[in-house]
Amino acid sequence: MTTVADSKPRIAPGPLALPVLGNPVWALRRDLHNVIHHYWREHGDIVRFKIGSRTAHLLARPEHVEHVIKRPEIYSKTKSYENVRRIMGQSLVAATGELWKTQRRIIQPEFTPKKVETSVPLIAAATERMVARWNDGTVIDVQSEFWQLVMEILWTTLFSRQLSREVARAFTQTIEHMARRMTFPLPDSLPTPRNLRFKKNINVIDDYIRGVIEERKSATQQVDDWLTRMILAVDEESNRGMSAQQLHDEVKSLFFGGQRTTVAGFAWLFWDLDRFPGVREKLRHELDSVLNHRTPTAEDLEKLPYTMQVIQESLRLNPPFPAYVRDVLMEDVVDNVLLPADSMVLICPYVTHRHPEFWKEPETFMPERFSPEASQGRPRYAYLPFGAGPRVCIGNHFTYLLMHIVLAMVAQKVNLRMVPNGPVIQRTVPQLWARYGLYMQIERRR
Ligand code: HEM
Repeated sequence: MTTVADSKPRIAPGPLALPVLGNPVWALRRDLHNVIHHYWREHGDIVRFKIGSRTAHLLARPEHVEHVIKRPEIYSKTKSYENVRRIMGQSLVAATGELWKTQRRIIQPEFTPKKVETSVPLIAAATERMVARWNDGTVIDVQSEFWQLVMEILWTTLFSRQLSREVARAFTQTIEHMARRMTFPLPDSLPTPRNLRFKKNINVIDDYIRGVIEERKSATQQVDDWLTRMILAVDEESNRGMSAQQLHDEVKSLFFGGQRTTVAGFAWLFWDLDRFPGVREKLRHELDSVLNHRTPTAEDLEKLPYTMQVIQESLRLNPPFPAYVRDVLMEDVVDNVLLPADSMVLICPYVTHRHPEFWKEPETFMPERFSPEASQGRPRYAYLPFGAGPRVCIGNHFTYLLMHIVLAMVAQKVNLRMVPNGPVIQRTVPQLWARYGLYMQIERRR
């Protein structure tokens, strides 16, 4: 790939756009991953299309992704993240430049593989309770069930406490509202009943977070959780901690960033296990021989490599964030294609994870492709469920750990079997989400 034009840069191919409306990608946002995948099949690795009046390019090859990720001065989170900023302020998810760098430096040390391991007992206990509640033969919606589990684990890890019903409801409804606004972009300023409820919910969440932070700051006894550590965290360069507003926004962004994505990860994981019984059997064999019905500890996890490969493969085929955007701040050239200033680029794990040049038989569920031997030579930016580079998901080690423990525990005790309930419809909202839920029957192992 060249970053400097070999000759006059060309305009990338792409579907014909309608005047004003652009390409139907706007209207079909809910099916974004499929639409974009279709564009890629029709037009190749760089596709130009319109989202409303703005030009956008899909960049599908790992080296394209690397080019974008390594140039934050050109590819940034500006216009496209205004909605996110309205809710999460200038927190990690949406901040840019020096502010983002400082925040990342302060928060990153709390999310190292070693630090997140301290959450293992909490994760195991919550999973134990969930599985104990599951009666043989009962049908559950896996998305709702794991919503409860992830919420319990995230809030306890952060605040060492459970949410009241009111706050949990406000939180869930806010996430749903944000998803709805992706597919039905009405301004939040219109006084519709949904918008009014959204505002009320945001106030409930803000009040709650403010209250917990104040209480914690004045507490005489220290509690060791993310919140305390974030309150005490200091930027090693400036020797300063976070302002009250910054802390508030970061707490919010950790939830909004982590909840739905993680639930989506679990839902598709158990869906895949049901679709591929051979994989389930091999997984069982590993779990039975290493754990023999025990609850896993952090030390056990390295002895469960296949369990992790199953997770990685599920995140490959069903990346919970199927696509994410950067705004192009100044004109650039990628692979001799012109990317104009004020356009957008789409990094689309859903497409890159299916690129046959980097993934043999891309539609086949094959966890072994993540073994060290099979991974050799695969470009680093070919696998992006958590993004890549400096802005890689800060929760990635935590999520892998969480999924490892939960899968090891659940798969030892039960099979989750899809019940016939119409086709499974995947939507991008913006997470990959099952439109009508994922209903599965619990089959306890004898
Ligand atoms: C399966 C679960 C998850 C997936 C697939 C996922 C995916 C991602 C992706 C793709 C990005 C980068 C987006 C971009 O570059 O535009 C990201 C960023 C982020 N994620 Fe996650 N995430 C998950 C879980 C979590 C959890 C559990 C947390 C919090 C505890 C979290 C917090 C964040 C934050 C704060 C960022 C912004 C990081 C930055 O820009 O510095 N995520 N995530």
